[in-house]
Amino acid sequence: MREETLLVHAGRHISDDYDFVNPPVIRASTVLHKSAEDMMNRAMHERDMIEDKIPYGTYGTPTHHAFYKALCALEGKNAAGAWAFPSGLAACTIPLLAFLKAGDHALLIDTIYGPTREFAEEVLRRMGVEVEFFAPSVGADIASLFKANTALVMLETPGSHTFEMPDVPAIAKACQEKGVISVIDNTWATPLFFKPLDVGVDVVIHAATKYIGGHSDLTMGVVICNAKTWPQAYRTFVQTGQTTGCDDIYLAYRGLHSMAVRVKAAAQSTKQIIDWLLQREEVERVLWPALPTDPSYPIWKRDFSGATSLFGVVFKERYANKLAPMIDALKIFGRGYSWGGFESLLIQSYGTRNQTPMPFERMVRIAVGLENPVDLIEDLNQAFNQLPH
Ligand SMILES: Cc1ncc(COP(=O)(O)O)c(C=O)c1O
Repeated sequence: MREETLLVHAGRHISDDYDFVNPPVIRASTVLHKSAEDMMNRAMHERDMIEDKIPYGTYGTPTHHAFYKALCALEGKNAAGAWAFPSGLAACTIPLLAFLKAGDHALLIDTIYGPTREFAEEVLRRMGVEVEFFAPSVGADIASLFKANTALVMLETPGSHTFEMPDVPAIAKACQEKGVISVIDNTWATPLFFKPLDVGVDVVIHAATKYIGGHSDLTMGVVICNAKTWPQAYRTFVQTGQTTGCDDIYLAYRGLHSMAVRVKAAAQSTKQIIDWLLQREEVERVLWPALPTDPSYPIWKRDFSGATSLFGVVFKERYANKLAPMIDALKIFGRGYSWGGFESLLIQSYGTRNQTPMPFERMVRIAVGLENPVDLIEDLNQAFNQLPH
């Protein structure tokens, strides 16, 4: 099946006796067992994740498992298991707990999502993990940063706010050669435009709050693992009590069905808006890897089958710390965090703790939604009039 078809159908078969298109929403903690023996059997298998033998609500419901099956189908033949978390950030941090212990060395890309970086710098270091950051341009040279105790490399592509793309296949290969676990936050591309498990990455993360949910009405993260990492990851997810409410799972699964059309429509509008921005004399640069002038374009063209609707805009130097009146004047773009929903958003960029020097004081990040792009351009046009000339 092609991906659009998979998005509609994957995970939908609950059982031969269940004829509805959608899975039921089962709000569940307690599962009733047929007998003492059934109870004992299910308890013994609780860590095997046999979905028709779920012993308790924290192991998921048929709705969860429909969603997990769909996620695995989308990530390709190397996907062995998926799990959901109450936020994208939890999906970024819990897998690190699964694979790291005191005395290990962990390498994280310098452009990682700020709160993930904070977790590494504060929680992992407190646990006794040696945490080091590396430049997104590292490529196969990541091997030169490996130490005897290097256990994990974490990537994100493109970088939060700065949009540089690392060479994921080269880094994954170096990790495989040294038995280092590789993890990637792939939220920007969605499984539609990049499948990291296919190029040798071990663990894929998506903030489902963004394009998967797609309607700004839930927070969720998902993790999809290959066969090598799934058993250890799954045990940690269960041991740390990671569970998500069934209503949110239902919404995320529902969002998945329309993700292809939403993402492609928003990407088309994005191209139109970027073309307009590039004509504006106030704009110095647009950060979107699918632009042929972008330094990451060769990697994007080689590894990705599309680009999504989140990008950065760098204004000319004279606008440093002077963007607020323009941002305040916006009428259609919302001033709000997050992205991947149906509504367009614009925020002033901020540096998190990146070491990459970027002029964040004259940068904004735009998330294009599903409005008519002409209305969005008109909104930007009237807001640009508020910039000091
Ligand atoms: C790249 C990336 N990863 C993870 C997250 C975290 O997702 P959530 O907001 O659901 O915690 C975000 C949120 O903005 C993000 O941009």
